[in-house]
Order: sequence, then structure tokens, then C-alpha cells
Amino acid sequence: MSNPTGYSASQIWLHWLVALLIVPQFLLNEPMGQAWRAIERGQEISPSVLITAHVVVGFSILALVLWRLVLRMTRGAPPPPAEEAPALKLVGKITHGLLYLVLALLVVSGGMAWFAGVKASAGVHEVMTSLLLVLVGLHVLGALYHQFVLKTNLIARMKRPG
Ligand code: HEM
Ligand code: HEM
Repeated sequence: MSNPTGYSASQIWLHWLVALLIVPQFLLNEPMGQAWRAIERGQEISPSVLITAHVVVGFSILALVLWRLVLRMTRGAPPPPAEEAPALKLVGKITHGLLYLVLALLVVSGGMAWFAGVKASAGVHEVMTSLLLVLVGLHVLGALYHQFVLKTNLIARMKRPG
């Protein structure tokens, strides 16, 4: 692994693509929730494009996250800016690690509920969706803190390859 001073173009594209794909997973999840509740009541469900999209986009997110992890392990990632206090560096590191983990667990738990009928897994999926929102909120706050309080221009690292 090299010691890059910035993210590569692929790392940047993948970051924003995953961020974008998460939006419809939250905004258009109602048909999936309804179908799941119907299955739990033992009712038949009718096919729906939005249900298929939730599954397909979900697995695409997992593939992109795995690709990101491979890039991170082979090419590496830039170190946090020197201006950041050690405790905040640790918070950033943990948040990034948890974002990857929660994204992967979301897809695995969703898949286990939907394809293997594991009911407890749907509960895990729901908890993970809330956790993801909290982590993304913390992540965005961190980026804004860097940008406007520490003035490290951190967001440029996720815009321009370096
Ligand atoms: C990163 C990918 C995913 C995200 C962000 C996501 C997000 C969501 C959200 C926000 C809900 C509504 C939960 C609620 O009621 O609070 C939901 C429900 C559901 N999703 Fe996903 N999902 C993802 C991937 C998947 C995949 C790949 C599958 C299946 C193969 C799946 C199956 C389900 C099922 C069965 C439900 C209804 C049961 C439940 O509410 O837990 N999801 N998903
Ligand atoms: C408006 C929304 C967002 C902004 C402004 C933003 C900004 C950034 C910035 C500036 C970095 C680089 C941090 C550094 O160089 O130390 C970063 C990294 C990262 N972001 Fe975001 N992000 C956003 C949304 C998201 C979302 C939705 C996710 C995942 C669901 C996400 C996951 C990550 C991860 C995992 C990293 C670490 C990359 C690595 O080093 O492997 N981000 N983000």
C-alpha cells in the first residue's frame, strides 16, 4: 500500500455514488416495508418495481462498498489533516469504519430477511437503517466542522483526486 496524499478519482466517484444510491433506499422503502409486513401476516404479495429496485440497488451498494474497501487496502487513503486533535482523528477513523460495516450489515440483514425468511434479521435491518442515519449525520457534521471551523478545506479531498 502506498501513502497517498489524496483520494484517487475512483475512490471519489465511488464515495459519491454510494452516497447517492442510499437516498432512494430511504425515500422509496415503503413498498418493501408493506410487502414484508404482508409476508409476516402470511399473505401473498404482488410484484413491484420498487421492491426489485430496493434489492438490486442494495446489492449494488454492497458491491461498490467492497470495491471501495479493496481500493482502500491496495492504494490507501490520505492521513487526517494535521490540524485535527488526536481524539477527533480517532472519532473520524471509527465513524468511517462503522459506515463501511453498517452498510455491509444492512445488505446482509436485508438479504437474510427477504431471501431466507429470517424474521429477526428484518429487526437488525431496521436498527441498522437508524444507525446509518446517525453515522451519516455525524460524518457530515465532521466534514462541515473541518470546512468552516478548522478551515482545512477537507471537502476538496473528496472532490479533486490527489
Ligand atoms: C444499503 C442498502 C440498504 C438500505 C440503506 C436499506 C434501507 C431500508 C430502509 C430505510 C427500510 C425501512 C426500514 C424501516 O421501516 O425503518 C428498509 C426495509 C427493508 N429492506 Fe432495506 N435497505 C438496504 C438493502 C436491502 C436489501 C439488499 C434487501 C433485501 C435483499 C433489503 C430488504 C428490506 C426488507 C425486507 C425491508 C422491510 C423489513 C424491515 O423494515 O426491516 N434491504 N430498508
Ligand atoms: C453531504 C454528504 C457527505 C460529505 C460532505 C462527505 C464528505 C467526506 C469527506 C470530505 C471525506 C474525506 C475525509 C478525509 O479525507 O479524511 C469523506 C470520507 C468518507 N465518507 Fe463521506 N461525505 C458525505 C456523505 C457520505 C455518505 C452518505 C457516506 C456513506 C454512507 C460516506 C462515507 C464515507 C466514508 C466511509 C469515508 C472514508 C473514506 C476512506 O478513507 O476510506 N460519506 N466523506
